[in-house]
Amino acid sequence: MIEFRGVHKRHGDLHVLKGIDLSIARGEVVVVCGPSGSGKSTLIRLINRLETLSEGEIVIDGQATAGWRGRRLQALRTRIGFVFQQFNLYAHLDARSNITLALRKVLGMPAVEADARADELLARVGLADKAGAFPSQLSGGQQQRVAIARALATRPEILLFDEPTSALDPETIGEVLAVMRELAHSGITMLVVTHEMGFARELADRILFIDQGTILESAAPADFFRAPAHPRAQRFLRQLLSPLHEAVE
Ligand SMILES: Nc1ncnc2c1ncn2[C@@H]1O[C@H](COP(=O)(O)OP(=O)(O)O)[C@@H](O)[C@H]1O
Ligand SMILES: [Mg+2]
Repeated sequence: MIEFRGVHKRHGDLHVLKGIDLSIARGEVVVVCGPSGSGKSTLIRLINRLETLSEGEIVIDGQATAGWRGRRLQALRTRIGFVFQQFNLYAHLDARSNITLALRKVLGMPAVEADARADELLARVGLADKAGAFPSQLSGGQQQRVAIARALATRPEILLFDEPTSALDPETIGEVLAVMRELAHSGITMLVVTHEMGFARELADRILFIDQGTILESAAPADFFRAPAHPRAQRFLRQLLSPLHEAVE
């Protein structure tokens, strides 16, 4: 479904991704973890072309997408939903309109049909009663669930999540993870940048550990958590699971 072939990304002199080769099967749920600044966001943003690559190839469902512009790029993005850390909802639109925007403007769907689809998605994320609420009237967890519903609006084949729970209060993280759990079981292809190791352990088919622009580990959760092969991954996991232990070490 998604293939990276020798992908490099540079920002000027900064070599952010250093030769990524990666193949993700249809329906696979992949968790991406690694230290801050290691290139995780860049990696997933390349897939729906929020970033452009410097070298190499990304192939989606058999097609290299690097040269795609305009309508073709727009069509690609309707096949790939993206969920941001900061939700990125439109503040001046209510929940329903946030979801219908792309349906109406990009797909040209009639308003009645788009509204029905939005309401169905709001119900799916447990917010059937919030269709008319504006982002400022919703908790972080509710806003993120609206953002997930929006990402699902065009019935994408791929869902990308960039630290979807990192901006949330602890008590609302669970409601977002519950929606993501349901999606992981639905058969959609998912790439999730997250430090929620509970989610990774329970739902990932595979965990990627990335450090300084290189994938150092690609392993089944059971193997990754039992004994990551690379010392940097071991250290990362130790810090994540027991920050205090690491601090006194
Ligand atoms: N638009 C940009 N211009 C310059 N440097 C960038 C840009 N975007 C990301 N970077 C740099 O690329 C590196 C990787 O960033 P990112 O992919 O956001 O890492 P992560 O998501 O793992 O924290 C960081 O050093 C970051 O500062
Ligand atoms: Mg990031």
